[in-house]
Amino acid sequence: MSQTKRILVVVGTRPEAIKMAPVIHALGQQSWAEVRVLCTAQHRQMLDQVLEVFDIQPDLDLDLMRADQSLDELTARLISSLGPALDAEGPDLVLVQGDTTTVMAAALTSFYRDIPVGHVEAGLRSGDLQNPYPEEMNRKLVTRLSSLHFAPTAGAADNLRQEGVTSNVHVTGNTVIDALLWTSQRVGASPFSSPQEKKRVLATAHRRESFGEPFAAICAAIREIADRGDVEVLFPVHPNPRVRDDAHRILEDHPAVNLCDPLGYADMVAAMRACDVILTDSGGVQEEAPSLGKPVLVLRATTERPEGVAAGCARLVGTEQAQIVAATNELLDDTTAIEAMTAADSPYGDGRAAPRIVAHCRAFLDAPRCV
Ligand code: UD1
Ligand code: UDP
Repeated sequence: MSQTKRILVVVGTRPEAIKMAPVIHALGQQSWAEVRVLCTAQHRQMLDQVLEVFDIQPDLDLDLMRADQSLDELTARLISSLGPALDAEGPDLVLVQGDTTTVMAAALTSFYRDIPVGHVEAGLRSGDLQNPYPEEMNRKLVTRLSSLHFAPTAGAADNLRQEGVTSNVHVTGNTVIDALLWTSQRVGASPFSSPQEKKRVLATAHRRESFGEPFAAICAAIREIADRGDVEVLFPVHPNPRVRDDAHRILEDHPAVNLCDPLGYADMVAAMRACDVILTDSGGVQEEAPSLGKPVLVLRATTERPEGVAAGCARLVGTEQAQIVAATNELLDDTTAIEAMTAADSPYGDGRAAPRIVAHCRAFLDAPRCV
């Protein structure tokens, strides 16, 4: 490679920062790359929590989050701020991760400038544009706007091929496993507070398609599970007001439910390690749980992460109260049911995804560019 290449890594939300941290650090060790980090701050506090854990200081911070932001006002702010930032930075490659509004806007504004985009965690598909919403559409748009596709699994790469995307598709593993293994060596005490003899349930939920009735049903299920009397539920509540208000209204007064602020990533890893069962609609948590040997009940109708379900580590339980309660009780009452869900190896990677991604970026930037 004749000269240093400028790579701009864009992150906006908590999961993007967690999953990009290993890539940022791996790029930082390359003599051929000048890595710059742009944070849109689509999330503020939750993004800052992650940047601190991974010791990342952004070179640019657009500070775009507003309370209770709508998709269109956020998109408008992102596009009008990212454009000038890209012009000023002039990167050779932009890297984005996942399926958020930040990712879609960064890929679009890069495309408008003919800057190639590398998409980390490419090829995830639920097959339902409403579920998850709007992420399934974002993923499809970002695929079309990207030149390099880092698929975490062979299944994700197959999804891309089925859409006619055949060049520069690389199966790398998911960088969340790199981040998890790194953080696992740095975790402190478990954030659960009850005596060991109580069973421990960790819950998270924040998806837009669940707002309203489905989210209220998830909370009602958690309340019913806590009513068993032998359980402590730890529920770090996402700061989205649509989530926070319902979670507090339905669960705040229950003595066995600990509603807390979002956990820093090291504390979250400690909580996942310490619990017996995880209830979640999170993408990242679905990927982390199998690596930690924890059964995960997915509070959604579909998942773009079918590998965990196929391996028996995850079960789709939807958002209906009775189903969530029955599936959770089954696990809490029968250790063999838990063991059956924790026997398989993680299908999401070996913790070496970031170096693979960096090597593919180098090869891409080294090759003559076809226009
Ligand atoms: C976003 C992503 C979702 C991802 C999730 C990860 C989109 C459309 N959605 O959803 O794919 O799974 O992040 O958590 O991109 N807020 C704060 N502080 C924070 C973060 C959020 O107060 O640090 C509140 C604000 O009121 C904000 C609201 O949450 O307006 C919603 O944030 P937003 O990023 O629009 O959506 P999420 O629901 O977080
Ligand atoms: N997470 C965290 N603190 C919390 C809840 C989640 O650090 O209180 C981590 C979690 O371990 C995973 C990531 O945040 O790595 C997932 O983020 P989120 O569920 O917000 O988004 P998604 O993965 O669904 O896009």
